[in-house]
Amino acid sequence: MKERTPLIEVNQLKKYFGDSSSIFKRNKTVVKAVDGVSFKIGKGETFGLVGESGSGKSTIGRSILRLHSITSGEVKYNGYSLHHLPKQEMRNLRPKLQFIFQDPFSSLNPRLRIGDAIGEALLDHGLCSKTEVKSKVLEVLEICGLASYHYDRFPHEFSGGQRQRIGIARAIILEPDFIVADEPVSALDVSIQAQIINLFKELQKEKDITFLFISHDLSVVEHLCSKIGVLYLGSMMELASRDQLYGNPLHPYTKALLSAVPIPDPTLKRERIILKGDIPNPANPPKGCKFHTRCPLAQDICRVEVPEFREIEDQHYVACHLV
Ligand SMILES: Nc1ncnc2c1ncn2[C@@H]1O[C@H](COP(=O)(O)OP(=O)(O)OP(=O)(O)O)[C@@H](O)[C@H]1O
Ligand code: SF4
Ligand SMILES: [Mg+2]
Repeated sequence: MKERTPLIEVNQLKKYFGDSSSIFKRNKTVVKAVDGVSFKIGKGETFGLVGESGSGKSTIGRSILRLHSITSGEVKYNGYSLHHLPKQEMRNLRPKLQFIFQDPFSSLNPRLRIGDAIGEALLDHGLCSKTEVKSKVLEVLEICGLASYHYDRFPHEFSGGQRQRIGIARAIILEPDFIVADEPVSALDVSIQAQIINLFKELQKEKDITFLFISHDLSVVEHLCSKIGVLYLGSMMELASRDQLYGNPLHPYTKALLSAVPIPDPTLKRERIILKGDIPNPANPPKGCKFHTRCPLAQDICRVEVPEFREIEDQHYVACHLV
């Protein structure tokens, strides 16, 4: 697969959360939420990041956008090392780098009309005059499948799917280059999920936006993403193109996740791989391969040696001793 010019490059990103409340240093718990993750997102590409709860997906999304500091590593946007940019330059870049939340309602002011909430950021960043803002808002309302009469309504008057459309409208009105969409459909009913996924597809087609699409659901990611990374306890287990990942999954964790994805054809059956146990405590992850406590194929070496993240075939990376 030919690689596109990267818009986003994540190199050996680490984000540790320390419990500074403990006055005894010995008892200080450090959560290695992201522990040396690397990947690139090509211009106009949608990269899917999947993994169970607590695997570090949101922390990666937030770290890329510099919504919090990082422990080490680097994030590059268009070649700029984002975490090294002076605050003012970062502020200037903000409109270009947007975040869509799982629950946009929580970030909406209940007393602000939707039209004003969507236009607010445009005015804050000085990207448009007061007289122009309404027509811009009406334009994005339409793009996002909302109606002009929604302009004067308040957040509580909208359904979950419509609120997500509002969240998307608030992001795209700033004409961003890059959007992190963090589980944007997870809280929605399945039928509504499909509508919002279709909206993302239209945006991909119409606008040259690069996406990091976060989900715990491999069936959602399959519809949108050309490249996918599978995370487990802050480490990347497998990284591949969509065709490679769904056609030839190599990591036992990916295989287990995929075995839970329903197949549309009822005559085909996939053997479900049930993982034993729960996801371990990220403050005290297993030694060696972090997945060994749940891996059906674990060997002695897996308990002591960390598997290298290796390129097994063109642009297809796997961290497993047996692959
Ligand atoms: N601000 C924080 N302070 C301390 N620990 C945190 C903080 N944010 C996240 N963590 C921890 O980092 C780990 C990764 O969390 P993160 O929210 O990135 O996972 P996630 O993959 O997005 O999970 P989910 O699917 O539940 O959203 C978790 O163990 C979490 O408890
Ligand atoms: S390295 Fe071992 S424990 Fe880890 S995924 Fe591979 S076989 Fe399983
Ligand atoms: Mg999350």
